Amino acid sequence: MRIEKTALDAQNRCVYSLYKEKGCIGHAVTCADCFEALEIAPEWQSRGYGSYLLREVLRQNGGFDRTAPSEFTAPLPDAGNTAAQALAAKFGFVPRGGLLVRRRVPDLTAVELTHRFLRSTLAPGGLYLDATCGNGHDTLFLCSVAGENGRVIGLDIQPQAAANTNALLAANGMAAIGRAECCDHRELLRFAPPGSVDCVMFNFGWLPGAAHDVHSTADSTLPALQAGLDALKPGGVLAAVLYSGKVIGNAEKKAAAEFFRSLPLADYTVLICEFANWADTAPLPCFVIKREK
Ligand SMILES: C[S@@+](CC[C@H](N)C(=O)[O-])C[C@H]1O[C@@H](n2cnc3c(N)ncnc32)[C@H](O)[C@@H]1O
Repeated sequence: MRIEKTALDAQNRCVYSLYKEKGCIGHAVTCADCFEALEIAPEWQSRGYGSYLLREVLRQNGGFDRTAPSEFTAPLPDAGNTAAQALAAKFGFVPRGGLLVRRRVPDLTAVELTHRFLRSTLAPGGLYLDATCGNGHDTLFLCSVAGENGRVIGLDIQPQAAANTNALLAANGMAAIGRAECCDHRELLRFAPPGSVDCVMFNFGWLPGAAHDVHSTADSTLPALQAGLDALKPGGVLAAVLYSGKVIGNAEKKAAAEFFRSLPLADYTVLICEFANWADTAPLPCFVIKREK
């Protein structure tokens, strides 16, 4: 089975044709985020092909993106067309203002909360460390805050992660601001002397898309957090997203939270931002601000 997309005109109208073996068995016509039609040939109906086509068109247009809002519309089905009504309901379309509308607003995640806090706290032009750069999304975010006068260094213990991050930075025109190195984050002071950094971000856990058995652990995390605090300037911020669960257990999250709670009030302001009505395994965003004296 395959779907072919053809542009119909310069107004973003497209047709997505669904092929089974060599024959076209259905199509969807869209104009930007509006479905104008979705049809499956009568002999192929009631076998899940409408679902398949609708899911794919939504997916290709960001309808399942968990980080960005999306809105799609479609015409209301005829009153007697229960199959079309059921299909629309299955994918979250609801009648509104004479149309079907499917609206998604992303949940506030621990990482999104961390980005919002840092964006509202950091000034452009700073030196930022991403101590767990992974696939580079946090490094890219920090580059967007640092701006052309800032510098961002990403670190990861896995060479593939440093390569992925450098590729993402290059693809987004940020290679002049940020770069990634393969290094254990316990050694982050090799890249920035004590008292020189405006922000250190840790987003613990495993590299998304890679084997889950390489992940951060309490043994390396506590010395790395201490090195991160040592690297900060007065007024600088350390952000850490802590995880727990079946694969990584609870030891790292517990030890890091205890480390943060034990920091002296005279030197640090510590925030531990629990998602209070989520499961105990919910990610835990933490922020430490080094106090200015
Ligand atoms: C959840 S991922 C980070 C996600 C990443 N910031 C992104 O935006 O894609 C956690 C990363 O921490 C890295 N890591 C684990 N232990 C590390 C260590 N001791 N030093 C440096 N990186 C480590 C893993 O290799 C993994 O890539």
